[in-house]
Amino acid sequence: MFRRWKWPLAIQRVKSISGRADRQQVRDDWEGTDQTGAGAFAVCQGLVKIYKVADLETVALQGLDLEVRRGEILGVIGNSGSGKSTLLNILGGLDLPSAGRVFVGGQDLLELSDAGLSRYRREKVGFVWQQSSRNLIPYLTALENVQLPMMLMGKPLGSRTARARELLASVGLEWRMSHRQSQLSGGEQQRVAIAVAMANAPEILLADEPTGEVDTDAAIAIYGVFHKISRAYGTTVIIVSHDRTIGSFVDRVVAVRDGKVSTEATRRERESDDELATGEMEELVVLDSAGRLQIPRELIERFGLKGRVRVEAGDGHIAIVPVEAADRKGQPK
Ligand SMILES: Nc1ncnc2c1ncn2[C@@H]1O[C@H](COP(=O)(O)OP(=O)(O)OP(=O)(O)O)[C@@H](O)[C@H]1O
Ligand SMILES: [Mg+2]
Repeated sequence: MFRRWKWPLAIQRVKSISGRADRQQVRDDWEGTDQTGAGAFAVCQGLVKIYKVADLETVALQGLDLEVRRGEILGVIGNSGSGKSTLLNILGGLDLPSAGRVFVGGQDLLELSDAGLSRYRREKVGFVWQQSSRNLIPYLTALENVQLPMMLMGKPLGSRTARARELLASVGLEWRMSHRQSQLSGGEQQRVAIAVAMANAPEILLADEPTGEVDTDAAIAIYGVFHKISRAYGTTVIIVSHDRTIGSFVDRVVAVRDGKVSTEATRRERESDDELATGEMEELVVLDSAGRLQIPRELIERFGLKGRVRVEAGDGHIAIVPVEAADRKGQPK
């Protein structure tokens, strides 16, 4: 029923679960489901999303598989239209897939009722969007913005003020508490937005191009804040970005191409917990559960792969050979 996060609707949602019967229903939804997907914190299995506008169908996700560990910071990159936001919206319970399964914290999101999904968004997920106007209420101060989600959850004034101050200090803005949105720089607005998203201690933080409207220095500061917050609170963080340099600030980067995870880059050496990563990233092609992989475009072009190819078992490896080359190899000289 409620698919998009908007502040006024949040108030309605709090009201909607205020009755005892409703509350029991939500608890049943939340606790009475199977625990498939245990092991990884967030699991996407064969996600398909088809949007239909008039007679035109767009396949935004084409059987996407993904696993994210608890407390991991994952970067998601990919060209425009590759399905990054669609993936994030599904993980955040804002949208439902056309097929496939999605689990977060062992919870099958597709088994939740509208009320359960609404509660999931409110209690388990924090969102940070690219546009500050979607993250912050302009006429509230930074402190009030961070307090608002806690107020909607009925937290007492004293504890919400203390937590809002603590969060603003975590994002390095304790000296900007009484500033409104127009009195903050773009980068500062996004750091307040992270504090707002963390207000109700979500287990997973989803950020869709949070650095899309700021310069490089501010972007680095924002990535640093995600890192610090994740390590301090154990929050799982997924950051969508166009910017490949995100690899320096996250544990792993997956590239989405045509609605599927095509490659994955993981750090060779693990960083220490309180420092930003410095190790090199190693990029690997991802084999999906059906045995499909996406060959990097530059290799397809370099070897002139088109249509059908031969897959040959070698000594400890599998070779993909253009059909013409394979035919030539088989011919007598
Ligand atoms: N609500 C919608 N209705 C119809 N089509 C949609 C809708 N949302 C996304 N799409 C289509 O689905 C595909 C994937 O969109 P998505 O927004 O997930 O891409 P993206 O990777 O986030 O792109 P960008 O980097 O530009 O934000 C695109 O072709 C887009 O046009
Ligand atoms: Mg997008």
